[in-house]
Amino acid sequence: MEGSCFIYSLLPNILLITLLFTSSISLISLQETNLEFIRTSCNLTSYPTLCFNSLSTQACAIQTSPKLLAQMAISVTLNKTRSTSSAMVKLSKVHGMTPIEVSAMKDCIELLSDSVYELQKSLGEMSTPGSKDIRFVISDIQTWVSSALTNEDTCTEGFVDDPKMKKVVRGKIVNAAHLTSNALALINNYASLRG
Ligand SMILES: *[C@@H]1O[C@H](CO)[C@@H](O)[C@H](O)[C@H]1NC(C)=O
Ligand SMILES: *[C@@H]1O[C@H](CO)[C@@H](O)[C@H](O)[C@H]1NC(C)=O
Repeated sequence: MEGSCFIYSLLPNILLITLLFTSSISLISLQETNLEFIRTSCNLTSYPTLCFNSLSTQACAIQTSPKLLAQMAISVTLNKTRSTSSAMVKLSKVHGMTPIEVSAMKDCIELLSDSVYELQKSLGEMSTPGSKDIRFVISDIQTWVSSALTNEDTCTEGFVDDPKMKKVVRGKIVNAAHLTSNALALINNYASLRG
């Protein structure tokens, strides 16, 4: 089991030991249920393995809540997009790029920064009770996903003369885009369950 359940960290050691002896089996099966929920839900996405791998470490926090699952998926995507953005900024400081590549890199970084903003907004809406309607949240994410997928091509288009750089950039962007696509599927699933 990856990580430890929230419940473990809340309990004093003596209680924990007692608990482990008396109900370790039920705690483990609880965790199995959580993981099974993530596996089944991730099966609805386009990249189930990536989905499961990116969310299974949060199983204890997600439990079997479609809302928390979608929320966590946005959080994971946001973090990945942030780190992708930083990696691109670092990459842009590499010397020896042609002016076209420098310009393509600048565009890429700007697009990713827009994405981070959109995801932050979506996460805020999703996690603040009584705020915006879920339909608007879905619309925000959908907008982001389609632009992220478009941006994926836009980002790599500028590197036609440098296949190696193109591959590096594409590799980074694709991962964030796939996570976003997954997050959207989980958001849609949550929305459909709410009726
Ligand atoms: C995932 O979906 C496929 C096809 O829809 C199905 O055969 C498989 O059993 C599902 N796996 C899980 C873990 O739900
Ligand atoms: C995303 O990053 C924030 C800040 O570093 C962190 O608190 C949060 O746990 C991360 N989310 C996930 C799902 O890893």
